[in-house]
Amino acid sequence: MRRDVDGTVVEGTVVRGDGRGRQLGFPTANVETEELVELPDDGVYAGSVDLPDGSVHVAAISIGRRPTYYERGALLLEAHLLDFDGDLYGQRVRVAVGDVVRGQLRFASAEELVAQIVADVAEVRARSTGVAAREDASEGRADHQA
Ligand SMILES: Cc1cc2nc3c(=O)[nH]c(=O)nc-3n(C[C@H](O)[C@H](O)[C@H](O)COP(=O)(O)O)c2cc1C
Repeated sequence: MRRDVDGTVVEGTVVRGDGRGRQLGFPTANVETEELVELPDDGVYAGSVDLPDGSVHVAAISIGRRPTYYERGALLLEAHLLDFDGDLYGQRVRVAVGDVVRGQLRFASAEELVAQIVADVAEVRARSTGVAAREDASEGRADHQA
């Protein structure tokens, strides 16, 4: 049964991932949490990230083991901050995990993963502004950068 994750806030330090996210066009902050912190169930979530400078950023959050790339990878909490381009390594951040968008999936190719992340980001953006993302999501690739 899925736990009610409304309002889960996780604090941690941004560590280096495999560096693949930037290559895919969706860099993520890999957040290392304390060992005993209980993460919400694997999935993709809408949420936000607080940075030490006081700024708050809407984020598409992935909690899982990257099944596209690993048989059983390490459990990671990754956040892609929308409209943000900066180096967060070593910074202590607070991640507010909100509503679930979907479960973790294994994709046949990086292109398919990226197409889904584009739709996820459109969905997260729409939820953050209160507008339905149905149209963008069904297009597969949303022109959200425009
Ligand atoms: C919004 C979002 C959704 C994601 N969904 C999946 C998924 O369904 N399956 C998967 O294998 N990885 C998923 N990922 C994780 C990516 O595989 C990961 O970010 C990428 O491989 C980069 O990893 P790295 O930071 O270790 O380089 C998702 C990442 C984001 C930001």
